[in-house]
Amino acid sequence: MDRKRSAALICAAVLAAALPGPAGTRPAGGPAEVELEGRPLVALTFDDGPREATTGPLLDGLALREVPATFFLVGSRIGGNEDLVRRMAAEGHQIGVHTFDHVALKGLSRRDFDLQVGKTRAVLADLLGEGEFWLRPPYGLIDQAAAGWAGGPLILWSVDPEDWKDHDVDRIVAAVVEHVSDGDIILMHDIFASSEEAALRVVDALLAKGYCFVTVEQLMEQRGAAPEAGARCRAFPPAKDRGGNF
Ligand code: NI
Repeated sequence: MDRKRSAALICAAVLAAALPGPAGTRPAGGPAEVELEGRPLVALTFDDGPREATTGPLLDGLALREVPATFFLVGSRIGGNEDLVRRMAAEGHQIGVHTFDHVALKGLSRRDFDLQVGKTRAVLADLLGEGEFWLRPPYGLIDQAAAGWAGGPLILWSVDPEDWKDHDVDRIVAAVVEHVSDGDIILMHDIFASSEEAALRVVDALLAKGYCFVTVEQLMEQRGAAPEAGARCRAFPPAKDRGGNF
Protein backbone atom coordinates (compact mmCIF):
# COMPACT_ATOMS: atom_id res chain seq x y z
CA MET A 1 0.00 0.00 0.00
CA ASP A 2 1.27 3.46 -0.78
CA ARG A 3 -1.25 5.96 0.46
CA LYS A 4 1.31 8.71 0.23
CA ARG A 5 1.89 8.49 -3.48
CA SER A 6 1.42 11.90 -4.89
CA ALA A 7 -1.87 13.11 -6.21
CA ALA A 8 0.01 14.40 -9.25
CA LEU A 9 0.95 10.88 -10.23
CA ILE A 10 -2.58 9.63 -9.71
CA CYS A 11 -3.94 12.43 -11.86
CA ALA A 12 -1.37 11.69 -14.52
CA ALA A 13 -2.49 8.09 -14.61
CA VAL A 14 -6.13 9.09 -14.79
CA LEU A 15 -5.51 11.55 -17.55
CA ALA A 16 -3.49 9.04 -19.55
CA ALA A 17 -6.20 6.43 -19.10
CA ALA A 18 -8.85 8.89 -20.23
CA LEU A 19 -6.98 10.08 -23.29
CA PRO A 20 -8.07 8.54 -26.55
CA GLY A 21 -5.16 6.68 -28.05
CA PRO A 22 -4.43 3.81 -30.37
CA ALA A 23 -6.20 0.81 -28.87
CA GLY A 24 -6.24 2.60 -25.54
CA THR A 25 -2.50 2.24 -25.12
CA ARG A 26 -0.45 4.61 -23.03
CA PRO A 27 2.41 6.62 -24.46
CA ALA A 28 5.72 4.76 -24.44
CA GLY A 29 7.55 5.32 -21.19
CA GLY A 30 4.35 5.75 -19.23
CA PRO A 31 2.12 8.74 -18.71
CA ALA A 32 3.70 12.16 -18.70
CA GLU A 33 3.62 14.09 -15.44
CA VAL A 34 0.69 16.42 -15.46
CA GLU A 35 0.81 19.63 -13.43
CA LEU A 36 -1.82 19.42 -10.73
CA GLU A 37 -1.68 23.19 -10.25
CA GLY A 38 -4.93 24.75 -11.34
CA ARG A 39 -6.81 21.51 -11.85
CA PRO A 40 -10.05 21.21 -9.90
CA LEU A 41 -9.85 18.53 -7.22
CA VAL A 42 -12.62 16.44 -5.73
CA ALA A 43 -12.79 13.72 -3.09
CA LEU A 44 -15.32 10.95 -3.50
CA THR A 45 -16.23 9.33 -0.18
CA PHE A 46 -18.29 6.27 0.69
CA ASP A 47 -19.91 5.40 4.01
CA ASP A 48 -21.53 2.40 5.65
CA GLY A 49 -19.64 -0.45 3.91
CA PRO A 50 -18.00 -2.71 3.24
CA ARG A 51 -20.58 -4.83 1.46
CA GLU A 52 -19.25 -7.45 -0.94
CA ALA A 53 -22.09 -7.27 -3.47
CA THR A 54 -21.71 -3.54 -4.02
CA THR A 55 -18.28 -2.49 -2.72
CA GLY A 56 -16.58 -5.15 -4.87
CA PRO A 57 -17.98 -3.90 -8.19
CA LEU A 58 -17.34 -0.30 -7.10
CA LEU A 59 -13.66 -1.12 -6.49
CA ASP A 60 -13.54 -2.76 -9.93
CA GLY A 61 -14.94 0.39 -11.54
CA LEU A 62 -12.61 2.72 -9.64
CA ALA A 63 -9.60 0.53 -10.51
CA LEU A 64 -10.51 0.62 -14.18
CA ARG A 65 -10.54 4.41 -14.04
CA GLU A 66 -7.50 4.61 -11.71
CA VAL A 67 -9.46 6.83 -9.36
CA PRO A 68 -8.87 6.83 -5.59
CA ALA A 69 -11.69 7.30 -3.09
CA THR A 70 -12.10 7.39 0.67
CA PHE A 71 -14.09 4.71 2.49
CA PHE A 72 -15.47 5.21 5.99
CA LEU A 73 -16.14 1.71 7.26
CA VAL A 74 -18.62 0.37 9.78
CA GLY A 75 -16.57 -1.86 12.10
CA SER A 76 -19.21 -4.56 12.48
CA ARG A 77 -19.17 -5.08 8.71
CA ILE A 78 -15.46 -5.72 8.42
CA GLY A 79 -15.56 -9.32 9.67
CA GLY A 80 -16.00 -11.57 6.63
CA ASN A 81 -14.99 -8.72 4.29
CA GLU A 82 -11.32 -8.57 5.23
CA ASP A 83 -10.14 -9.19 1.67
CA LEU A 84 -12.24 -6.31 0.42
CA VAL A 85 -10.70 -3.97 2.99
CA ARG A 86 -7.18 -5.13 2.17
CA ARG A 87 -7.95 -4.56 -1.48
CA MET A 88 -9.12 -0.98 -0.78
CA ALA A 89 -5.84 -0.21 0.93
CA ALA A 90 -3.73 -1.98 -1.71
CA GLU A 91 -5.41 -0.02 -4.48
CA GLY A 92 -4.61 3.36 -2.93
CA HIS A 93 -7.92 4.23 -1.33
CA GLN A 94 -7.99 6.01 2.01
CA ILE A 95 -9.77 4.17 4.82
CA GLY A 96 -11.49 5.76 7.79
CA VAL A 97 -13.95 4.78 10.49
CA HIS A 98 -17.70 5.29 10.68
CA THR A 99 -18.13 3.74 14.18
CA PHE A 100 -18.53 0.03 14.93
CA ASP A 101 -22.35 -0.12 14.93
CA HIS A 102 -23.24 3.03 13.00
CA VAL A 103 -24.29 5.05 16.03
CA ALA A 104 -24.59 8.80 16.53
CA LEU A 105 -21.60 10.13 18.47
CA LYS A 106 -23.67 12.14 20.92
CA GLY A 107 -24.06 11.64 24.63
CA LEU A 108 -21.67 8.68 24.70
CA SER A 109 -19.43 7.86 27.63
CA ARG A 110 -15.73 7.70 26.90
CA ARG A 111 -15.96 3.92 27.17
CA ASP A 112 -18.80 3.73 24.64
CA PHE A 113 -16.96 6.10 22.30
CA ASP A 114 -13.91 3.83 22.46
CA LEU A 115 -16.09 0.77 21.77
CA GLN A 116 -17.32 2.49 18.62
CA VAL A 117 -14.30 4.34 17.29
CA GLY A 118 -11.28 2.87 19.07
CA LYS A 119 -12.46 -0.68 18.50
CA THR A 120 -12.98 -0.09 14.76
CA ARG A 121 -9.53 1.50 14.52
CA ALA A 122 -8.05 -1.54 16.30
CA VAL A 123 -9.74 -3.91 13.83
CA LEU A 124 -8.32 -1.88 10.93
CA ALA A 125 -4.85 -1.72 12.48
CA ASP A 126 -4.89 -5.53 12.88
CA LEU A 127 -5.81 -5.90 9.24
CA LEU A 128 -3.75 -3.14 7.60
CA GLY A 129 -1.10 -2.11 10.07
CA GLU A 130 -1.01 1.08 12.05
CA GLY A 131 -2.76 4.05 10.52
CA GLU A 132 -4.68 7.14 11.49
CA PHE A 133 -8.10 6.04 10.17
CA TRP A 134 -9.86 9.39 10.31
CA LEU A 135 -13.42 9.57 11.57
CA ARG A 136 -16.65 10.35 9.79
CA PRO A 137 -19.42 10.65 12.36
CA PRO A 138 -22.66 8.90 11.33
CA TYR A 139 -25.35 11.44 10.37
CA GLY A 140 -22.63 14.11 10.64
CA LEU A 141 -23.50 14.35 14.35
CA ILE A 142 -20.89 14.68 17.06
CA ASP A 143 -20.88 16.45 20.39
CA GLN A 144 -18.00 18.41 21.86
CA ALA A 145 -16.88 15.59 24.15
CA ALA A 146 -16.68 13.07 21.29
CA ALA A 147 -14.97 15.62 19.03
CA GLY A 148 -12.35 15.98 21.75
CA TRP A 149 -11.78 12.21 21.78
CA ALA A 150 -11.70 11.83 17.98
CA GLY A 151 -7.91 11.81 17.73
CA GLY A 152 -8.01 13.23 14.22
CA PRO A 153 -10.06 15.46 11.94
CA LEU A 154 -13.81 14.90 11.55
CA ILE A 155 -14.48 14.39 7.87
CA LEU A 156 -17.87 15.76 6.86
CA TRP A 157 -18.91 16.64 3.30
CA SER A 158 -20.01 19.48 1.05
CA VAL A 159 -21.99 17.62 -1.65
CA ASP A 160 -24.73 15.22 -0.56
CA PRO A 161 -26.89 13.72 -3.32
CA GLU A 162 -28.91 11.76 -0.71
CA ASP A 163 -28.17 8.58 -2.63
CA TRP A 164 -29.99 6.49 0.01
CA LYS A 165 -33.31 8.20 -0.64
CA ASP A 166 -34.77 6.95 -3.91
CA HIS A 167 -31.95 5.00 -5.61
CA ASP A 168 -32.67 7.00 -8.77
CA VAL A 169 -29.32 6.87 -10.57
CA ASP A 170 -30.02 9.75 -13.00
CA ARG A 171 -31.13 12.03 -10.17
CA ILE A 172 -28.13 11.12 -7.99
CA VAL A 173 -25.64 11.76 -10.82
CA ALA A 174 -27.24 15.14 -11.61
CA ALA A 175 -27.30 16.10 -7.92
CA VAL A 176 -23.53 15.69 -7.80
CA VAL A 177 -22.42 16.87 -11.23
CA GLU A 178 -24.57 20.02 -11.17
CA HIS A 179 -23.42 21.09 -7.71
CA VAL A 180 -19.79 20.08 -7.43
CA SER A 181 -16.96 22.57 -7.34
CA ASP A 182 -13.21 22.56 -6.80
CA GLY A 183 -12.29 21.14 -3.40
CA ASP A 184 -15.59 19.47 -2.60
CA ILE A 185 -16.05 16.27 -0.61
CA ILE A 186 -18.85 14.13 -2.05
CA LEU A 187 -20.86 11.85 0.25
CA MET A 188 -22.16 8.54 -1.10
CA HIS A 189 -22.81 5.04 0.26
CA ASP A 190 -21.21 1.90 -1.16
CA ILE A 191 -23.94 -0.41 0.15
CA PHE A 192 -26.37 0.25 -2.71
CA ALA A 193 -26.06 -0.95 -6.31
CA SER A 194 -27.65 2.32 -7.45
CA SER A 195 -24.96 4.31 -5.64
CA GLU A 196 -22.19 2.21 -7.17
CA GLU A 197 -23.58 2.84 -10.65
CA ALA A 198 -24.15 6.53 -9.94
CA ALA A 199 -20.67 7.00 -8.47
CA LEU A 200 -18.96 5.58 -11.56
CA ARG A 201 -21.07 7.80 -13.80
CA VAL A 202 -20.11 10.77 -11.63
CA VAL A 203 -16.44 9.83 -12.02
CA ASP A 204 -16.73 9.65 -15.80
CA ALA A 205 -18.62 12.96 -15.98
CA LEU A 206 -16.17 14.82 -13.74
CA LEU A 207 -13.07 13.35 -15.43
CA ALA A 208 -14.49 14.65 -18.69
CA LYS A 209 -14.78 18.10 -17.07
CA GLY A 210 -11.11 17.98 -16.08
CA TYR A 211 -11.51 17.11 -12.40
CA CYS A 212 -8.84 15.15 -10.63
CA PHE A 213 -9.98 12.66 -7.98
CA VAL A 214 -8.01 12.51 -4.75
CA THR A 215 -8.47 11.01 -1.31
CA VAL A 216 -9.50 13.36 1.50
CA GLU A 217 -5.98 13.19 2.87
CA GLN A 218 -4.51 14.14 -0.52
CA LEU A 219 -7.07 16.93 -0.91
CA MET A 220 -5.99 18.44 2.41
CA GLU A 221 -2.31 18.04 1.52
CA GLN A 222 -2.81 19.73 -1.83
CA ARG A 223 -4.70 22.61 -0.20
CA GLY A 224 -2.18 23.03 2.59
CA ALA A 225 -4.67 22.15 5.33
CA ALA A 226 -3.22 20.47 8.40
CA PRO A 227 -5.33 17.63 9.81
CA GLU A 228 -6.21 19.00 13.24
CA ALA A 229 -7.78 16.72 15.83
CA GLY A 230 -11.46 17.49 16.33
CA ALA A 231 -11.65 19.91 13.38
CA ARG A 232 -14.77 19.61 11.23
CA CYS A 233 -13.79 19.33 7.55
CA ARG A 234 -16.38 19.91 4.84
CA ALA A 235 -14.52 21.15 1.77
CA PHE A 236 -11.13 22.49 0.76
CA PRO A 237 -11.62 25.04 -2.02
CA PRO A 238 -8.56 26.72 -3.55
CA ALA A 239 -7.27 29.73 -1.61
CA LYS A 240 -8.81 32.22 -4.05
CA ASP A 241 -12.32 30.83 -3.41
CA ARG A 242 -12.10 30.44 0.34
CA GLY A 243 -14.95 31.98 2.19
CA GLY A 244 -13.90 30.68 5.57
CA ASN A 245 -15.78 27.40 5.30
CA PHE A 246 -12.93 25.38 6.75
NI1 NI B 1 -23.64 6.28 7.67
